[in-house]
Amino acid sequence: MARPPRATVTYEAAPNIALVKYWGVRDPDLGIPYNSSLSVTLDRLRSRTTVRFSDDLTSDRVVLNGAEATGGPRAGVVALLDRVRALARSDRYAEVRSDNNFPMASGLASSASGFAALAGASSLAAGLTLSDREVSELARSGSGSACRSIFGGFVEWRAGVRADGSDCFARTLFGPGHWPALVDLVLLVEGAPVKEVRSMDAMQLTVRTSPEYAARLRGLPRRLERIRRAIAARDSAALFPLVMEECDSFRSVCETTRPTLDYLTPTSRAILGEVRSLNREAGRPVAAYTHDAGAHMHVFTLAQDLAGVRRRLARLPGVRSTLALHPGPGGRRLAPRRRSRPARRAR
Ligand code: DP6
Repeated sequence: MARPPRATVTYEAAPNIALVKYWGVRDPDLGIPYNSSLSVTLDRLRSRTTVRFSDDLTSDRVVLNGAEATGGPRAGVVALLDRVRALARSDRYAEVRSDNNFPMASGLASSASGFAALAGASSLAAGLTLSDREVSELARSGSGSACRSIFGGFVEWRAGVRADGSDCFARTLFGPGHWPALVDLVLLVEGAPVKEVRSMDAMQLTVRTSPEYAARLRGLPRRLERIRRAIAARDSAALFPLVMEECDSFRSVCETTRPTLDYLTPTSRAILGEVRSLNREAGRPVAAYTHDAGAHMHVFTLAQDLAGVRRRLARLPGVRSTLALHPGPGGRRLAPRRRSRPARRAR
């Protein structure tokens, strides 16, 4: 039986930065975390992924940022493609091309945007019509935080309580236009080490060995609720101290993990100190730092304070560059490029 031709699909998605961190997995097979998390999907940065399934291929082909992927990165992509093939009852191999408009090793969560874009592109290319929630679940199987990048603006990933994961899902709480004055100043630092332990393995080490992990989990529902309320009210004076408190809690469980997880460089630590000084000098919270499992820093501030905050932080030794980002849209399919018609032969 002739099989229907399938489309070549391109889908793009952005990284997100967590204000309440996902760190610890209750069910590794279903990808269910111990705690709910909350993030901001960012504008301007993008992973763009094109997928085509074909009968002509004899294995999956994965090209990441122009280079043929091998080892772990390829295996992660193939595992997600296998899920798509199972859902679509297909045995076709795929060609995957993915590009970021930001450096992959920059620590700017390329796995979140990358797996979100892959989930969107591969499911559509296989002819599946999934809801955003289903695409998000697929993205989650590649990288936990990727489930949030399907959605725009301020996004909550609910951990849920059911064993089958049916109440574990991500959704937008407030759209990208909710708080236009909020800025995420990304500070890329020099000499950021390449991650030695995958986040998934690192967080499970924290669950097993950090004496502070249980107390962190107990306090998180209340902190998440307060953060949600501060965002709803666009109240930076309430939000910024809570964002730093959460970042400090995350860093503390990492540092008390055995062996310790130390993601920061001296420059990252200098940024933490400088933000605290800025707030002390201003007599109000003008900025809030946060970071993921990496050395680069995200500093939230309001548009009116951006110039002053940026000037102070950009001059710290070891700050390589800064990037001011806003809440942005979720993942989306890009319209197929219209083939240009062959030029008419002149008669
Ligand atoms: C610190 O989603 O990168 O960024 O599931 O192993 O891909 P994997 O982990 P990942 O972990 C992200 C952890 C974090 C916090 C967060 O984004 O919530």
